[in-house]
Amino acid sequence: MVDSSVPLRSGPGAHDLPDDLEGAIRELKRERNAVLLAHYYQDSEVQDLADFVGDSLALARAAQNVDQDVIAFCGVHFMAETAKILNPDCTVVVPDLEAGCSLADGCPTEAFREFVEAHPGAAVLTYINSTAEIKAMSDLICTSSNAPKMAAQFEGQPLIFAPDRHLARWVAQRSNRPDMIAWQATCIVHEQFSAKRLAKLKMKHPDAEVLAHPECDEAVLDQADFIASTTGIIQQAIDSKSSTLIIATEDGVFHQIGQRAPDKTLIQAPGMDESCACNQCPFMRLNTLEKLYLCLRDLSPEVSIEEGLRVEALRPIERMLALS
Ligand code: 13P
Ligand code: SF4
Repeated sequence: MVDSSVPLRSGPGAHDLPDDLEGAIRELKRERNAVLLAHYYQDSEVQDLADFVGDSLALARAAQNVDQDVIAFCGVHFMAETAKILNPDCTVVVPDLEAGCSLADGCPTEAFREFVEAHPGAAVLTYINSTAEIKAMSDLICTSSNAPKMAAQFEGQPLIFAPDRHLARWVAQRSNRPDMIAWQATCIVHEQFSAKRLAKLKMKHPDAEVLAHPECDEAVLDQADFIASTTGIIQQAIDSKSSTLIIATEDGVFHQIGQRAPDKTLIQAPGMDESCACNQCPFMRLNTLEKLYLCLRDLSPEVSIEEGLRVEALRPIERMLALS
């Protein structure tokens, strides 16, 4: 049962909030027997409350191994949905059900089904940033940390890669698969980094190491010294011999790097538009402490999935986890 003794900021109602939000979330986590999983792109105060912070692959593994009753998932919908697919007996709640992803949204089920049918005999390798319906149509799932390795499973066979066209191009180059058939969705955050302004920034900081996520455009990746998933970027920033790092990914990773390598100077790769905070994922940032408190208090919104679809989507995810 929820402890009704937690003091509230105002009178009764759905959005009443306790004065000590962090303390109340910790208390609710205990009462609900819940685990809080968070992606690196969450606000720093959400990361600090989490039991586990990771990239997509590490979060999928963590979700699979949870034996508590509840997962409160601070990330975007496809990540929470993957947690539910892997751990159906857990109640999976999210702070905001609207936290989507431009890659998952950019690959609608029926259009993708037609695309697959138009390429008979092709295997389907799908980025984890996709809906359960798209995963269910796939032979194998990958994340940004294992995509080239997963592509290598399909040597000698025609291969569809979906939904990120930039990741597809990077994987095709790294795996020498120029024949790869790519779906054409993009990440609205990584696509906005400006190659032209990055080149100027590099001239100002000639000793800086450039770290980039493979969802970036080719002209940005061409200037990067190191390309990896969020976990890879954070680890490289800590290990790097350079004292200055230019980082081309969502700026949530700065929190972990700042804590684990406080002596490093971190510079955000510039966006096309100088005036906007376009290096923040608007979907990830929908998850606030207030909404996290409410989702743990009410056990809502809950992520659910029809059992037949879950079993179909589980198959290629489990295959990835076995191969990783
Ligand atoms: P990672 O798997 O590298 O954490 O990437 C997830 C993501 O959504 C990047 O935009
Ligand atoms: Fe999706 Fe891009 Fe946000 Fe990652 S940063 S969750 S790929 S929209």
